[in-house]
Amino acid sequence: MLVPESHGSIQTEIFEGNCLTILKGIQDESIDLIMTSPPYADKRAKTYGGIKPENYVDWFIPIANELKRVLCPSGTFI
Ligand SMILES: C[S@@+](CC[C@H](N)C(=O)[O-])C[C@H]1O[C@@H](n2cnc3c(N)ncnc32)[C@H](O)[C@@H]1O
Repeated sequence: MLVPESHGSIQTEIFEGNCLTILKGIQDESIDLIMTSPPYADKRAKTYGGIKPENYVDWFIPIANELKRVLCPSGTFI
């Protein structure tokens, strides 16, 4: 965790690391907003690293399952 911050009832924490590992430590239905910019399948590998297109779905499904688990039922995914 890098920056714990509180603004009234809103709590902000920034975690740095592999999102799959970090997501596994987050409670079910505890996140109101998920906004993500995942890697382009091998399109900008020099800049961001890359996941090969043929491996992309297998790579993303475990992450997507965790995102769905932690998102509140009334939450937003962008
Ligand atoms: C398309 S870039 C997003 C760039 C970002 N929106 C920006 O403006 O700099 C994808 C980013 O996801 C990061 N990334 C890839 N796999 C990750 C993972 N398992 N956990 C966390 N970040 C990851 C990459 O390091 C890269 O910075």
